[in-house]
Amino acid sequence: MLLVTCNVEFYNVIMDSPFVFILFGATGDLAKNKLIPALFTLFTKKELPQDFFIFGFSRREMTDEEFGEFFPEVSAHPAWQDFATHLHYQQGLFDEEKGYIELVEKLKSCDEKLGACITRIFYLATPPSNYDAILQNLINTKLSEGCGQGSSKWTRIAIEKPFGKDLATAKALDSTLATIFEERQIFRVDHYLGKETIQNLLVFRFANGIFDPIWNKEYIDHVQITWSEEKGVGTRGSFFDGVGLLRDTAQNHLMQLYAAIAMEMPKSFSKEGVRDVRAAAIKDIIPIEPEQVGERVVRGQYDGYREEKNVDPNSSTETFVALKFFVNSERFRDVPFYMRAGKKLAKSETTISLVFRQTCHILFKEIGCPEDGNVLTIRIQPNEGISLRIIAKTPGSHLALQPTEMHFNYKEQFGTQGTGAYEKVLTDIITGDQMLFNRSDELEASWTFIEKITKGWENSESKIITYEQESNGPKEADELIEKDGKKWIE
Ligand code: BG6
Repeated sequence: MLLVTCNVEFYNVIMDSPFVFILFGATGDLAKNKLIPALFTLFTKKELPQDFFIFGFSRREMTDEEFGEFFPEVSAHPAWQDFATHLHYQQGLFDEEKGYIELVEKLKSCDEKLGACITRIFYLATPPSNYDAILQNLINTKLSEGCGQGSSKWTRIAIEKPFGKDLATAKALDSTLATIFEERQIFRVDHYLGKETIQNLLVFRFANGIFDPIWNKEYIDHVQITWSEEKGVGTRGSFFDGVGLLRDTAQNHLMQLYAAIAMEMPKSFSKEGVRDVRAAAIKDIIPIEPEQVGERVVRGQYDGYREEKNVDPNSSTETFVALKFFVNSERFRDVPFYMRAGKKLAKSETTISLVFRQTCHILFKEIGCPEDGNVLTIRIQPNEGISLRIIAKTPGSHLALQPTEMHFNYKEQFGTQGTGAYEKVLTDIITGDQMLFNRSDELEASWTFIEKITKGWENSESKIITYEQESNGPKEADELIEKDGKKWIE
C-alpha cells in the first residue's frame, strides 16, 4: 500500500523577510546567465520580499551602476531599472581581506537601514579552487557571523557543484564548512534538483499508484539515461578543462537523474525524508572498480576541443562519458543502468527511459510482436514531458501490431514548463528549505563512485576517444549497450 505522510515541510513558504544576497563570482557565467536572471524573474513575478539587497563580489573594478548594466540579456526589460536599485557591487580579490572588510561596513549599513539583522546569504558561484580562500575570509572578517551576535544564526551559505574534486576534497570542504556553519545553514547546490521534471518524478511515481508495482526488476529490463548538449565548452574552457565531464556533470546531475528513478518511497515528504531516500539510492550503486573501467566506461573528447579557448592543446579532459553500472537494491538488483553524457553532440536533450521487458503473449505469437516493447521516457528537457511507448493494433482489416507513443507534455497541458531550476534553487535558499540540496553522505557516495572511475583512467592506458562534433558520441558508446543486446533509444 502506498502511504506518504503529508508533511509538506517548507514547500510553499512565502518570501516575506528581507535578505542580503552576496554573490561571489558576480561577473562569471553562472551569475550572468543563471543567477541574476533567475533573481530578476522572481522579482518580476513579485516573489521576492519588498526589501532585499544583492551584492556582487568580484575582482574587476565597477560601480554599483556599472554592475547594474552588466546583464544585457535581461536589462532591457522594463522592470530592470527597479530591480537594479537592489544591486550593489563590492570589488575584491577572493584571497585578500580588503574587499571583505569593506563589505562588512556595507552590510552593516543595510542592517541599520532596516533596523534589523537581515539574513545574509553567501552564494559561491566561483570555480571551486576559490572556496577555501572565500571561506577563510568570511571567518577572518566575521562576515559569516551575521550581524554581530557572535553566532552565525542569520547567515546561509550556498556552494555550487562540483563540491570538491574527489572524495577527500569534498570531505575537507565539509569539515571547513562545519567549523563555520551548522548543517541547516549549508546549501550544496545541484540545480538539477530544482528542475520541474525531476521534482515531478516523485509525484509521478508515488502519487500514481499504478507505477510502483511495476517499477522494479520483475518488469524493467534496463534503464537508460541520456544527457546531451549541442554546445561545447564555450567561454568556460579554463574551468572545464580542469574538471572534465565526469566531475562537471556525472557526479552531480546524472546521479540525481538516476536517484529519482532508483530511490524508494520517502517515509514523509519532508526535508530529511526525501534526502534519506535520495542518499540511499546513491549508496546502493555498485561501484565500477578501476579494473572494470575499460570494459564498462567509454571516455570521449570532441574533435576540436583542444583548440577551444583556454583549453590545454594536449588536454586529455573528457567531454563525453558512457557507462554501465548495477545497483544493490531489492528493487533493481541485476537491472543494468546505462548512462551517456556529452558536449558538442547532435542535439540538446536529457531523457530517462525505462525499458520494460518485452513479452509476446501467446495470443499474438503467430502474427508476431514488434521487437520493441514498452518504454517509459521522461523528457527532462526540452519539450518537458513523459511518453509511454505502447503496442497498438495497426488500423486495418488484418491483425497486426505496432509500437506507438502516448504523450504528456507540460507546455501543452499546463501552458508552462514550470518554474526555472535556478528560480526554485534561489527561492529555497532564501526561504531556508534544504530538501532539494545535497547532503554530505549523498555527495560522498557519488564521489566514491566517480573516484573509482578516475582511478581506472589513471591506472590503465585507457585512451580517450575522439568523436565527431554533432554526432551521438564515439561508436564505442553504442557498442557498450549493443554488446548486451540492447540499443540506445534515440
Ligand atoms: C552545469 C554544467 O552544471 O550544467 C554545465 O557545469 C552544463 O557544463 C549545465 O552545461 C547544464 O545545465 P542545464 O540546466 O542547461 O541542463
